[in-house]
Amino acid sequence: MAVYRFAHCSDIHQLFLAGLWPFAFFNKRVTGGLNLLLNRRRHYRGEQFGALLDALGPLALDRLVITGDLTNLALASELVYVRQQLASLGLEVTVIPGNHDAYTRGAARSGVFERELAPFMAGEREDGSLYPFVLAEGPVAFVGCSSAIPTAPFSARGELGEAQLARLDRALDRLARDQPERARVVLVHHPVSPAHTGPRRGLVDHAGFARVIERRGAELVLHGHEHRALDYALHGPAGRVVQVHGIPSAIATSADPARRAAFAVYEVTSDAVGTVAIARTRHLWDGARFAPGE
Ligand SMILES: [Fe+2]
Ligand SMILES: [Fe+2]
Repeated sequence: MAVYRFAHCSDIHQLFLAGLWPFAFFNKRVTGGLNLLLNRRRHYRGEQFGALLDALGPLALDRLVITGDLTNLALASELVYVRQQLASLGLEVTVIPGNHDAYTRGAARSGVFERELAPFMAGEREDGSLYPFVLAEGPVAFVGCSSAIPTAPFSARGELGEAQLARLDRALDRLARDQPERARVVLVHHPVSPAHTGPRRGLVDHAGFARVIERRGAELVLHGHEHRALDYALHGPAGRVVQVHGIPSAIATSADPARRAAFAVYEVTSDAVGTVAIARTRHLWDGARFAPGE
């Protein structure tokens, strides 16, 4: 029986301002930067990501996946800092972007996220498009999507877009036909149901995403963005249920059980006849370290 273990975390919001030119703040970053300094510092602790990386070490993982918002302001300095942290892990890593990683139109247009974090976005792509990418490994096929779009201040919406949804549809269909022994794990930053997010923070084309999942199915959908633990489901084909798990921010300092910093470890097993099972263990921040618990 093949056993594969991966960890999921999200919204690590690493801020690294060294070497930053002041003009980088003359746009949406003015509001975001102020908000960050006034508010976020009290509720998030960037250094906590180091504790998470330490906790991953002994878990004998095959991969870590991070579902977006790796930075606060999509600055090259933040992305380089994240890349260095991840590269020193000695662990395979897959990332997708969140809205904070496309913080300004300029950042999104420049492709700085994809450029700086390219080592963590390997996978098969359709006709040179960036998303989704498919990384098949052991009994799992990760399908990395991007819902990251630049938005107006005080908006944190996401959108996959019709073209990406069409490619996602084809990728899920292809995997189901050609590699039925693999669990398809779809990665996306935003919650995929409007019931779990506010109107200015949600996925614009959640209905289109739900239609693709209903037609093609998936074995699991993982997301971040809400900084809250969320468990819900979408309809799959033939009456099947597709589980969706949202994970809180890995650097939250909150004591609220739903918002406590966490990561999840998934153990995926596939037996001789190709039956795949997925089991999850959550690891929660207890104020000093991450420990397994619910
Ligand atoms: Fe976030
Ligand atoms: Fe987000």
